[in-house]
Amino acid sequence: MRIFNYAYFHDILMKSLCVKVERKQGEEVRKKLLEMGVLNKKLVIKRNDFLYIPILKKINLGFEILEKDFDGIEIGEGDYKKIVEIPDRLRELLPTSFDIIGDIAIIKIIDELLPYKKMVGNALLRAQINLRTACADRGVKNECRIRDLEVVAGEKKTETIHKEYNIKLKVDVSKVYFSPRLASEHHRIAKQVGKNETVIDMFTGVGGFAVMIAKHKKPKKVFAIDINKTAVGYLKENIKINKVENVVPIQGDAKKVMKNIEKADRIIMNLPHKAYEFFDDALNSLKDKGIIHYYEIIEKDKINNRISDLKKNCEKNGRKMEVVYLKSVKTYSPSEVKVVMDVKCTKAAREIFKAGLH
Ligand SMILES: C[S@@+](CC[C@H](N)C(=O)[O-])C[C@H]1O[C@@H](n2cnc3c(N)ncnc32)[C@H](O)[C@@H]1O
Repeated sequence: MRIFNYAYFHDILMKSLCVKVERKQGEEVRKKLLEMGVLNKKLVIKRNDFLYIPILKKINLGFEILEKDFDGIEIGEGDYKKIVEIPDRLRELLPTSFDIIGDIAIIKIIDELLPYKKMVGNALLRAQINLRTACADRGVKNECRIRDLEVVAGEKKTETIHKEYNIKLKVDVSKVYFSPRLASEHHRIAKQVGKNETVIDMFTGVGGFAVMIAKHKKPKKVFAIDINKTAVGYLKENIKINKVENVVPIQGDAKKVMKNIEKADRIIMNLPHKAYEFFDDALNSLKDKGIIHYYEIIEKDKINNRISDLKKNCEKNGRKMEVVYLKSVKTYSPSEVKVVMDVKCTKAAREIFKAGLH
């Protein structure tokens, strides 16, 4: 009886010509070989300090050509499930999705699979050659929303540079919150920012929204606040790496910080577990006309109630509120979703007039 698929792979070990390249050049060379039609897609790329990319025939790209043994199986990018060395009965428990932040893979591993965490990590690294580290994710902790991570394969490091929409974000995934799934939101919001706008990013992390806005648009200023000192340290580095101006990093509790900064045309509230607690603070820091981008994890059947709550808060603040965009961006549990709402909050003319009299 075959217990490990691993044995099967070695049953069909095959000799092949290969190109030896430095790991940092790996992805570029693999793509080139693929374009030239000489990449042997039926064999698994080997990795140690170098990468050995199997090829179908000799070619001259200026790299050393060798002959080596390869595991014979066709795997596609991300197809790590086929090559994990675990008993077959557990294979269906392997997660289908995982996060990639820069060159680090982060995967949630259920208890039954924990004895095989190294194998899972190794398979991820073999299936995606641009990865250098695999981490097991043991959940998010404390108010800074930091993931409890364990490096299970590859280099023992947790710092990386993540690229999205032409910006680079340096991040230590074990010390600050970061999600690659926010990239399209960073970009969607940045596209809306008008010239000379003042923006407040209340929960900036390493600056995903703030840096994206400053890179792609011409805001007057983006105040970028986070309570986590390490996150603000990375934000400062990201401002330099991306050569952006007009981002003002501030470390502290947004509730307190907001009282001492100028009012904004646009406020981003990306603290989905407790955004509602900060909504009044955002209203007080918004100009007479402004937009709030509000994220919350909420029971599906409570979304309409929440919209009513937000409207009431606006009324108390002398404003009318209009929801101009509403989308559920992620399912959290069978009943909970993460929603994003863009809400336009406008002071009634009489409130503006009253304020003018004081
Ligand atoms: C969901 S993460 C933000 C991610 C970030 N917007 C991005 O795009 O990568 C929430 C952030 O809020 C920060 N935070 C939590 N409570 C805070 C508070 N009271 N004031 C300021 N920042 C806070 C956490 O440290 C964390 O970095």
